[in-house]
Amino acid sequence: MSDTVTETRSTEDVSRRLLESAAKLSYDPAVEVDWDAPLAPGLHGLNPEWSTLYGTALWDRMSEEQRVTLTRHEVASIMSTGIWFEMILQQMVLREQYGKNPGTSEFQFALTEVADECRHSIMFARACQKMGIAAYSPKRSVLELGRLFKSLAVAEVAYASILVAEEVLDLMQRDAMRGENVLPLVRTTSRIHVVEESRHMRFARAEVRDRLRDAGPARRATSAVSVALVAYFIVTSMVNEDVYTAAGLDAREAVKAARGNEHHAAMMRSGAANLVKFLGEVGLLTRPAMSVYRRINLI
Ligand SMILES: [Fe+2]
Ligand SMILES: [Fe+2]
Repeated sequence: MSDTVTETRSTEDVSRRLLESAAKLSYDPAVEVDWDAPLAPGLHGLNPEWSTLYGTALWDRMSEEQRVTLTRHEVASIMSTGIWFEMILQQMVLREQYGKNPGTSEFQFALTEVADECRHSIMFARACQKMGIAAYSPKRSVLELGRLFKSLAVAEVAYASILVAEEVLDLMQRDAMRGENVLPLVRTTSRIHVVEESRHMRFARAEVRDRLRDAGPARRATSAVSVALVAYFIVTSMVNEDVYTAAGLDAREAVKAARGNEHHAAMMRSGAANLVKFLGEVGLLTRPAMSVYRRINLI
């Protein structure tokens, strides 16, 4: 019992520190991003090494112009998936805090996170618009699954799913913000996102630990699979298959090349190492969950 109290306080402590950090360093993308700057023709949408085709024979056959077009559509698709999941997570966070004590740092940080996500989604929407790319959407079935999930997911399933989505986006954006051959628009939006999301990830970790403290093995096993399935739908929805057609490629050939791309799989695995370690620590890396993570190259 005393352990529970200490740990609850520590979640509150985490939130208090995160609120202080947010007060010191948060961004308003409306003024932080140079929305009027023209797009330099030769610059990529994301680091070419992060393209789903980089390292394949198909990539070698593409013209530089096609590669630039592809990476811009890939980043627009990733941003669109970001908007989709941010809308899901805002609703889950609000539901989790409904009726809770507004006087706690936990409550106040949770609402700070919702405000961050609201600005992020507008920022991603404007970035796609600026690149002249119509928003991509997950498949209809995934969109409907998301609608159901956001209304039902609670506690560790909600927060661990949020964490997975944030970690997966983060691993690409950390490289994008430093990429010299990446559009300044993408570099700036990535930097803003990386800074603010690092707080969200710390919060999500604290919440997951908290919610799982008294969970028995059956609940842990169910939650582990639920989170892994969410990860599956997020990762497989990141890059819409239409990006290949937009770059003048044969979609079927490109999808096949992307699926067999060992280079991209290795990039995903190395970036997800921290996330996987955390899931293991909190007992969410059960055997069935691991087999899902392996399929999407997070393990
Ligand atoms: Fe975000
Ligand atoms: Fe976030």
